[in-house]
Amino acid sequence: MDEAETKTGSADFVVVANRLPVDLDRGTDGTQRWTASPGGLVSALEPFLRSRKGAWVGWPGVPGVEVDPFSDEGMVLYPVTLTADDVRDYYEGFSNATLWPLYHDVVERPVFDRSWWESYVRVNRRFAEASADIAAGGATVWVQDYQLQLVPSMLRELRPDLRIGFFLHIPFPPVELFMQLPWRAEIVRGLIGADLVGFHRPGGAQNFLWLARTLVGLEPSRGAVGVRSRPGMMQVGNRTVRVGAFPISIDAAGLDNLARSRQVSERATEIRKDLGNPRTVLLGVDRLDYTKGIDLRLQALHELLHEGRVKPEDVTFVQLATPSRERVEHYQRMRSDIEQMVGRINGEFSRVGHPVVHYLHQSVSRTELAAFYSAADVMVVTPLRDGMNLVCKEYVACRHDLGGALVLSEFAGAASELTSAFLVNPHDLDGVKNALEAAITLDPAEGRRRMRALRRQVLTHDVDRWARSFLEALGSESAS
Ligand code: ADP
Ligand code: G6P
Repeated sequence: MDEAETKTGSADFVVVANRLPVDLDRGTDGTQRWTASPGGLVSALEPFLRSRKGAWVGWPGVPGVEVDPFSDEGMVLYPVTLTADDVRDYYEGFSNATLWPLYHDVVERPVFDRSWWESYVRVNRRFAEASADIAAGGATVWVQDYQLQLVPSMLRELRPDLRIGFFLHIPFPPVELFMQLPWRAEIVRGLIGADLVGFHRPGGAQNFLWLARTLVGLEPSRGAVGVRSRPGMMQVGNRTVRVGAFPISIDAAGLDNLARSRQVSERATEIRKDLGNPRTVLLGVDRLDYTKGIDLRLQALHELLHEGRVKPEDVTFVQLATPSRERVEHYQRMRSDIEQMVGRINGEFSRVGHPVVHYLHQSVSRTELAAFYSAADVMVVTPLRDGMNLVCKEYVACRHDLGGALVLSEFAGAASELTSAFLVNPHDLDGVKNALEAAITLDPAEGRRRMRALRRQVLTHDVDRWARSFLEALGSESAS
């Protein structure tokens, strides 16, 4: 990475997110290297910001390190330091043990802790100050996700000249659940500092408008919010705040190209061979998160094997699971449950040299991931709740051969776009089993028909379209 063009007040376009797109990885021998950060936010925004040559403010992923700003192939990265206490209280605590479960339908019980909240306020202020420092006069600042919901108002106070957007990458909850939050009005006030507040789905936008009326006494418009159209509006002092729905996506053309490369197709063939060329390869790809429904897909497979509806010699299930938030208790419990289930299925149904489930608790490269997608007959995406879910879109983008089938939870934001998938209610185990069986035994012509429809949607609605539609609605980009 080069020395930086990092002067204070020089950036015209700034993304602010909890994490930088790269993580500082420090070896036990004192060596340092940067690796790609986990999660969908980074996968989606990184290619966009790189093409824009913008600035990115975020945390380098380890506590207590001070890193100078630096440039990385066109982007300028501005690291924000988090102490070990900040990581414990703001990141693992309020962000990931309070907001994450609360916003994901209370799949786990959120913890409400006042000292975590205080840390959240302090760290949000630090991000706001860093962004205020680097933004040029009249710049556009785009704040991302649930970890930074107070930044829009804090930043507006520091820099009223800026155009500020906010996008939430996770679901915005039903109002009854949001109302549990002791700091609910503060969060709404934090968000309305933005000129445009964006959600994946119109329902989230609608919930937010209701809360702005109920908790802050604003008078939002009453019409239904559309997808990329008809944003809600409200007057906050002398400003108009817009509230809209902008479903995020992936760099579909980039992934399509990668999947067509000889390297990926050869590797896909090799993966199938290494798995013993089973009739059907099932695949799951997720951060190891309790919202993703990894346990229930394993349970569905276990029952199908038990009932003899699926033969162990015919199927192999590969689960790639990126380590995530490993010090948060909810995550530790879920990991041990999942690993127990993997052991149980393999114990009952594997033969020597042929485990039924291959479980890799690791991150793989983009090329390797494209090869896994290309090798998989059935992609299994079963979150109990997911803002969008990019994995299912990535799978579709990789299937230029029109092969493969997608089993997708209705509770992923992507379900309303990918209607030709086998849609399942993840709470209905029999329904999940039936969908898995249908996908495994799918007639190839019907499979191609479904995949063609899925690809039409994904290839025409990529991340660039998402970003452009948001920035046009923010008024910082002209319609093209
Ligand atoms: P989330 O943002 O909640 O993690 P998404 O499905 O939106 O969920 O995005 C996950 C991103 O992380 C995708 O881009 C996916 O390719 C990537 N990913 C998930 N698991 C792995 C893995 N084991 N190795 C490499 N990338 C992974
Ligand atoms: C989701 C969130 C992101 C987050 C990512 C990875 O995609 O929406 O904000 O960065 O998960 O989680 P982590 O806690 O490792 O940053």
